[in-house]
Amino acid sequence: MMPYVLSRARELARAASLLEAAERLALHAATRQAAIAREPRTARFCARQARQEAFHARVFAAAAACLAPGAVVAHPGGAALGAYRAQLDRDLESGDLWSSVVGLQVALEALGAAVLGELEAGLARHLPALAPLHRVLAQQEAAHHGFGLRRIERAVATGAIPAPRLRVAAGAYHRLANGLLAACAEILDRLGESPAPYAARFEALLPAWFRDPA
Ligand SMILES: [Fe+2]
Ligand SMILES: [Fe+2]
Repeated sequence: MMPYVLSRARELARAASLLEAAERLALHAATRQAAIAREPRTARFCARQARQEAFHARVFAAAAACLAPGAVVAHPGGAALGAYRAQLDRDLESGDLWSSVVGLQVALEALGAAVLGELEAGLARHLPALAPLHRVLAQQEAAHHGFGLRRIERAVATGAIPAPRLRVAAGAYHRLANGLLAACAEILDRLGESPAPYAARFEALLPAWFRDPA
């Protein structure tokens, strides 16, 4: 029994480490969004989001350290997160704020909510102290996701993001998000969990224009 508990804690530590890296990616992208946003309200929201993502990253770093004290915890999401970051950086470098919102607030936030929601029970069992923090994180991530959905709907209505560009962004970030989910499969497998509920939860959080770009 003990080795099982220990290995499960270690796998959860790897999941926490991957979540920390994803939060750092969100911090990076939201910081850049705040710098290029023309509307002051959007810039302020992204700057606040960046501060919250920095806090989330610290929470998961602490969780990984508590779950596997003294261990160097490697996670399998490096390549997929790197590809995701490269696409976000391409959009941000070209000043395409709305495509980056599709990537960060619409897709990555939905993926984070799906993974966190499914891992919640396992993390809470090993780290009960995380439960109240998790509720705060979930509320903040839901606000980031909701902001992204509202802003994209408005950008579409005003023509700020043309339909072809929205289609390209949705397709690219859907592929990248699925790559990230696939990278999680090894951890899920070792935790004795199927990736299917994660993928289903992720898809359920996505708007129709993202799931099935016309
Ligand atoms: Fe976050
Ligand atoms: Fe977030």
